[in-house]
Amino acid sequence: MTQQASLLASRVGAGRAGGGRRHRSVDPAHLGDVVAEVLLAEPATFVDACGAAREAQPGWAATPAPVRGRVVKHLGRLVEENAEALARLVTREIGKPLAESRGEVQEIVDTCDFFAGEGRRLYGQTVPSEMPDKQLFTFRQPVGVAAVITAGNFPVAVPSWYLVPALLCGNAVVWKPAECAPATAEALAQLCWHAGLPDGVLNLVQADGPTTFEGLAAALEAGLVDKVGFTGSTEVGRRIGELCGRHLQVPCLELGGKNPLVVMPDADLDLAVEGALFSGFGTAGQRCTSLGTVIVHRDVHDQFLARFAAATERAAIGDPFQDVLYGPMIDQRFFDRFLGWLELVEPHHRVHGSTGTGRITGANPRRGFVGDPGDGLYCHPTIVSGVQPDDELYRRETFGPIVGVAACGSLEEAVALANGPGYGLSAAIYTRDPATAFRFRAGVSSGMVSVNNSTSGAEAHLPFGGNGRSGNGSRQSGIWVLDQFTRWQALNWDYAGKLQKAQMDVAEPTPDRGFRI
Ligand code: UN1
Repeated sequence: MTQQASLLASRVGAGRAGGGRRHRSVDPAHLGDVVAEVLLAEPATFVDACGAAREAQPGWAATPAPVRGRVVKHLGRLVEENAEALARLVTREIGKPLAESRGEVQEIVDTCDFFAGEGRRLYGQTVPSEMPDKQLFTFRQPVGVAAVITAGNFPVAVPSWYLVPALLCGNAVVWKPAECAPATAEALAQLCWHAGLPDGVLNLVQADGPTTFEGLAAALEAGLVDKVGFTGSTEVGRRIGELCGRHLQVPCLELGGKNPLVVMPDADLDLAVEGALFSGFGTAGQRCTSLGTVIVHRDVHDQFLARFAAATERAAIGDPFQDVLYGPMIDQRFFDRFLGWLELVEPHHRVHGSTGTGRITGANPRRGFVGDPGDGLYCHPTIVSGVQPDDELYRRETFGPIVGVAACGSLEEAVALANGPGYGLSAAIYTRDPATAFRFRAGVSSGMVSVNNSTSGAEAHLPFGGNGRSGNGSRQSGIWVLDQFTRWQALNWDYAGKLQKAQMDVAEPTPDRGFRI
């Protein structure tokens, strides 16, 4: 398995940037396998990258949008041609099961397919004027330089949600990928460059979080960044929001979630179990859209819990290149944090779903484990029942294979429990009653709602994003993300040959207001 690790570095403009500290990206399923070594950049490199982007951006914006769309189209085709290699790299570098990695790569292709066509739309409007011989128009203008900072759980799909529309709209980009997936990031960046992007239009900065923050602050101060896109924790999102606010900018923030899944008495329980299993434990619970708490009506609570626990006990966990529900944690940091979340389990809770809790090892085995657990950072799936609104486990986002189960007595109580933690990314309800589904949709605070489907698995052309602690209301994907990467410019064009003053020189019709039939 072990191969020669390549030495990666940032790329600013056309050249490789020198780096500081060396960092190793390790396969979380085989800790002896070093996937890549990377030179992590200093803050100055981030600023340089923004400078290179600033220089390249006007030329790129002057390239007709349909031509930019062709680059996006080529990227989509290149990703398709390289899909298997890219998916395998994702699985090797962050431990996502291969089937999910293939889905993640498909999400880039879907995004490219959508935005390739947008190059021939990117519509503005013609608007009637209140005066004769005058015409009004709107144009979408690129924002300029976008700094994009992404997380490790979706190391290529989520970056593509930013990169593809940002580039299509005529912006230049500085991308800072997650430290745990530098090889995957390099691969995606290479595909972008080979799709026909001019030098400097996409710059890759491999750096750690604090360095990036320092570099970003300096670049904003120097006027080199016009838009920040960030996917990551609520805590860091808040700091980025504060920083951007000082520069009168609104970042595009995609933050955490404590995503609820409600099971009503009329639900198809087997379907609900399937949905809870996938959204709770798919990607080892490390999606932003992963299930946090199942909220089950008392009438079906015990029945649901028994089936959910049994399905979780039966699920295949292990080697991500095999047919498994989930593989290892993304990296050591995610693994350590997960062990911390397990401490939130309290005496009034009951734990279900596996033959142990915490790390899966020879001494703490998981029945039916696929492969050798000793090689990687594997964790037992953990279902915690008896969750109450006062519990820390109810309120906190717990990134990993742990799902809480709480009981409710009515739809109103379910909605209150769903909204209680203050996040608002994705929510699901299982019911056969349309009125219940629509009432839930209207009452729940999340940006995305599923009926009879899991909290995970958003399609690539619907608005993706959250509210409250999940984000500032920004939306990615589809036509909605265009508002993140363009600004509206209004044009009024007067050909009357005299000054016509709005509101003052407007003809006024004379109605007969006293008329009655
Ligand atoms: C994320 O977890 O940041 O809806 C993105 C989903 C995926 C994307 C998740 N299509 O689960």
